[in-house]
Amino acid sequence: MKRSISPFGNESVRLRLIEEKDLQATLSWRNREEARVWFKSSGLLSYEQHRGWFQRYQEKDDDFLFVVEADGNLVGQASVYGVDWNTASAEVGRFLVAPEGAGKGYIHRACGELVRFCGEVLNLQYVFLEVFEHNERAFRLYQQNGFVEEQRYDGLIRMGRRTAGIE
Ligand SMILES: CC(C)(COP(=O)(O)OP(=O)(O)OC[C@H]1O[C@@H](n2cnc3c(N)ncnc32)[C@H](O)[C@@H]1OP(=O)(O)O)[C@@H](O)C(=O)NCCC(=O)NCCS
Repeated sequence: MKRSISPFGNESVRLRLIEEKDLQATLSWRNREEARVWFKSSGLLSYEQHRGWFQRYQEKDDDFLFVVEADGNLVGQASVYGVDWNTASAEVGRFLVAPEGAGKGYIHRACGELVRFCGEVLNLQYVFLEVFEHNERAFRLYQQNGFVEEQRYDGLIRMGRRTAGIE
């Protein structure tokens, strides 16, 4: 069962756990051609598939998907998952912007807040991610948030950072 987590953020963005009412919006972002090509499973998803994922997700306590709000509007999502409580590490990802919120720095700031949350609330020490090597926009965003390249394989770049010490 998933623990309850209070919304968090800064003066610009607020992150709160995804709820059933967010499924339609998050699915529409995920299914955009420009967005889904950047995910490892890039096929179109139906609402039923997305809802099935959500139901399984709700049972997990190592997987947290946040919707990002700015000025009361949904502007995107960000996630930490595969939490390994023993090694205090996890993967971050599923970063997506709503088309109307794109290019405004919301996901940049959400990424920073997510890393802070991982350190301060989940007590993780290290987070990593995978990004396609041609996804320059996402790669730059991660670099600006302190992630450094660790490895390249199969067209992907693995990047990681400690949760503390780099801002
Ligand atoms: C990757 C993705 C989430 C980035 O979203 P975005 O809205 O373009 O990103 P942001 O605007 O939050 O941040 C990036 C830009 O904001 C800029 N920015 C940073 N702080 C800012 C601020 N305070 N105000 C305004 N802009 C700011 C950054 O410098 C960056 O600009 P640059 O790319 O010109 O250097 C989005 O392109 C997307 O959904 N892509 C499809 C899915 C995807 O690729 N996900 C990642 C998979 S690994």
